[in-house]
Amino acid sequence: MSVTANHKTLRPLLVTTIILGVFVAAFLMYIKPSTSMIYELAKSKVSTVQVIQPNSTVVLVWLWPFGKTFDLSVCSSHFKIEGCVITADRSLYSKSHGVIIHHHDISANLSNLPRTQRPPFQKWIWMNMESPTHSPKHPGIGNLFNLTLNYRRDADIALPYGSIIAAETKNFVPPTKDKLICWFVSNWNQDHERVKYYDELKNHVEIHAYGNAFGSHISDEDYFSTMGSCKFYLAFENSIHKDYMTEKLYNPLSVGTVPVVLGPPRKNYENFVPGNAFIHVDDFSSPKELAEYLLLLDQNMAIYLQYFEWRRHFEARKTYFWAELTCRACDYLKRQKVYQAFNSLDNWYWGQ
Ligand SMILES: *[C@@H]1O[C@H](CO)[C@@H](O)[C@H](O)[C@H]1NC(C)=O
Ligand SMILES: *[C@@H]1O[C@H](CO)[C@@H](O)[C@H](O)[C@H]1NC(C)=O
Ligand SMILES: *[C@@H]1O[C@H](CO)[C@@H](O)[C@H](O)[C@H]1NC(C)=O
Repeated sequence: MSVTANHKTLRPLLVTTIILGVFVAAFLMYIKPSTSMIYELAKSKVSTVQVIQPNSTVVLVWLWPFGKTFDLSVCSSHFKIEGCVITADRSLYSKSHGVIIHHHDISANLSNLPRTQRPPFQKWIWMNMESPTHSPKHPGIGNLFNLTLNYRRDADIALPYGSIIAAETKNFVPPTKDKLICWFVSNWNQDHERVKYYDELKNHVEIHAYGNAFGSHISDEDYFSTMGSCKFYLAFENSIHKDYMTEKLYNPLSVGTVPVVLGPPRKNYENFVPGNAFIHVDDFSSPKELAEYLLLLDQNMAIYLQYFEWRRHFEARKTYFWAELTCRACDYLKRQKVYQAFNSLDNWYWGQ
């Protein structure tokens, strides 16, 4: 009797919990891609079978990045990198030349790292595209890896979130604009430098802010067209670190909107992007002064269009997550056969 009674009381609770769980999961999945919009390849329906030849370079994706699967068989078709077999099949561990381990998915006690003896030819690749501020520091990973795959220029496999590549465009015309300044934000945190800057800036000029914090969600389909309809986009990074320039920079550059950047110093941006392609908040002594300049450009099309001069000779290309990263890692392994160990990951990434 009591068992039945327990069941009766437990069932609705269980059902509620499951429904709630599904909602929370759906919500999380829903907000993650649409608010950051990193560049991903459409998953092909039929994955082509990858045959391991004697001359293949095998790269094992040990943990799906943030739990998300992606197409593993695109190195040749999309990036013209031949001879790579990218796999998530752990039974190929002992044959793998490289094992890619995504930092954020490593459990704090390191229990989900490979346990079996590492083959002598195998290199472990530490993959991380988040900044140090947003990367948990796990004790014990400092001298496990052979290679780093990161946005930083001094990583072994250095892959920024995008790049500016040579291309001849006779007459680039930015899309039609009906808004001056836009900002899409996913993580609202009062303490952020970017939020403080925004709070001050919006006192002097209207900003179209989108995101859950503003009660105006923007869908994936509208993401780039909305961005393109703004003269300026606030490319404010979530933390300030050398070389840390994300899709927040490359998305507006690729759609034809001028990024107003908040991040590392202008000189650092200029290592990656032409100096006349963006506006840096540090170019101005205050948010008020920046607002005045943006309002001035709103009235002066000729000066505004100078921010697209670079498009005569270049275009912005975004890096594909995660497929491209793993293919480039394979390409690196193919070309670099030397012994390499990296014994100071902690210090390199998180500093003293
Ligand atoms: C590997 O070998 C196969 C056949 O033996 C050949 O067709 C292919 O071009 C080779 N690939 C590379 C990357 O050398
Ligand atoms: C390590 O942490 C995971 C959860 O992150 C847990 O499931 C597992 O039991 C822990 N393993 C050990 C050996 O402590
Ligand atoms: C990779 O790094 C580990 C840890 O430092 C080292 O034991 C191993 O020999 C290295 N392997 C290669 C192929 O470089």
